[in-house]
Amino acid sequence: DNKEEATEGGQAAPGTPGFRRGLTNYGDAGFSLFLRKAFIKGAGFTDHALDRPVIGIANTGSSYNPCHGNMPQLIEAVRRGVMLAGGLPMEFPTISIGESFAQPTSMYLRNLMSMDTEEMIRAQPMDAVVLIGGCDKTVPAQLMGAASAKLPSIQLITGAMLAGSHRGEVVGACTDCRRYWGRYRAEEIDAAEIGAVNNRLVPSVGSCSVMGTASTMACLAEALGMTVPGGASPPAVTSDRMRVAEETGAQAVRMARERLTIDRILTADAFHNAMTVLLAIGGSTNGIVHLTAIAGRVGIKIDLEELDRMGRETPVLLDLKPSGQHYMEHFHAAGGMATLLRELKPLLRLDALTVTGRTLGEEIDAAGPAFVQDVVRPMSDPIYPEGGIAFLRGNLAPGGAIIKQSAASPALMEHEGRAVVFENLEDLARRIDDPDLDVAADDVLVLKNIGPVGGPGMPEAGYIPIPKRLALQGVKDIVRISDGRMSGTAFGTIVLHVTPESALGGPLACVRDGDRIRLSVAKREISLLVGDDEMARRLAACAVPRPQGRRGYQRLFLKSVTQADEGVDFDFLQGQPPEAC
Ligand code: FES
Ligand code: MG
Repeated sequence: DNKEEATEGGQAAPGTPGFRRGLTNYGDAGFSLFLRKAFIKGAGFTDHALDRPVIGIANTGSSYNPCHGNMPQLIEAVRRGVMLAGGLPMEFPTISIGESFAQPTSMYLRNLMSMDTEEMIRAQPMDAVVLIGGCDKTVPAQLMGAASAKLPSIQLITGAMLAGSHRGEVVGACTDCRRYWGRYRAEEIDAAEIGAVNNRLVPSVGSCSVMGTASTMACLAEALGMTVPGGASPPAVTSDRMRVAEETGAQAVRMARERLTIDRILTADAFHNAMTVLLAIGGSTNGIVHLTAIAGRVGIKIDLEELDRMGRETPVLLDLKPSGQHYMEHFHAAGGMATLLRELKPLLRLDALTVTGRTLGEEIDAAGPAFVQDVVRPMSDPIYPEGGIAFLRGNLAPGGAIIKQSAASPALMEHEGRAVVFENLEDLARRIDDPDLDVAADDVLVLKNIGPVGGPGMPEAGYIPIPKRLALQGVKDIVRISDGRMSGTAFGTIVLHVTPESALGGPLACVRDGDRIRLSVAKREISLLVGDDEMARRLAACAVPRPQGRRGYQRLFLKSVTQADEGVDFDFLQGQPPEAC
């Protein structure tokens, strides 16, 4: 029967399931299948085991990634779910990216992980894939890769770490990491206390416990319809998380049988819902870049003007750090995404399909009744009256910039000040703590050359530290502007993603010490206060050739990476592939 299942040239007929799918090309299909079966039988499988949907499980466990530290238990639970539903689980490794362990920045590697994920899904026989990710860049990388591979795909989130406690105060990674470090820099706490806090910030495996990028991407994955209902919020070490994993495995088998491919889920309506959720959770600014990149893979453009318009009617409802008070485990106890989505229902496109084969609206209705809780606010009593993120434009950012207004200081959101310019990260490191640095609390700190090309990889250095001499005076916030990103766990009046970036000769490259800069969040404006003629002269003087990497991945990266408004994806990965793998 081997020959019947395969067509000429060694390729299986479209829709051919299981191990007959995507045969290695030896020019003899019958032999290819014969050989494949011999090798899988070498691993102890019987013909009976092979005769069913094959579910790939992307294993992203790594000693360098404690955010994925529950990977062995998750894989066991997914396998159980797959087998209970009649499928064959096949685990395979891909790159893993742990936020704190990747240099120059994890973002530099996100596209590489997306390519690895896409090509391993494409290369190996599977009818559906379970993507297991959690730390910041891993979920977007997996969704980008899977969107391009176009198989039935389902996301499993590793889950947040538990919240910790330090001397009676609840703490968690990593808003409190920054807060305590700021206090240490200001000499409010001593070396012994900062050492003690260091032991308490990360009390278990799992991703950061605040609404940073990891939690944001977990919520966006569920809003996109890419996880089982309730898949975003269970902490990593809970039985709820393991039950989600089992259910995910079982659902992957159903998706394989129904050929519920990812392109039917990642629609314009799904991205609308994800943008609504991003605004309402006070989500990470990185969420915009990642959503743009994922959407770009299926030929959908995320319109930042539209996001800004939506933000004016989408308040922040979720009371989680850094915009609010609580942590992911509290969000989970409050009902997780079901509670939030129920509240946001009037703003959502309820007909969007999810991995269950039912619509988001049907899942919201099936989630059970609301109950009293204090983590998700009602629309009538939000944490912040508008969406968490505002989109800015002006002569300093013709392609746009963003600010996380829900985590900014109200007093600085309408501000004009003198520019204090740092040319790059080395310059910043050299001078920021100089006691003679000419800087005052109402100045505007400008950091250049940390964009997609300049960084490279757009490092999260946009959260420029408060200069030591100001920190010692008790200054807690100052307006900061860069073409980089900041961690989703950070807070402050910080303008990010200035486009085009300075390393490509964007207007940011032309800012000089002493220039005046105006930020108006109300008017959505970020301007360098110089005349058009002066700006044109400076731009001409700043023009630079695009940097080229010498070899390897760096060369590919610098040649191909797009700007923030296109998701910092590689240009050749964008757009919808012609057919499924
Ligand atoms: Fe992995 Fe924060 S470091 S989620
Ligand atoms: Mg982060």
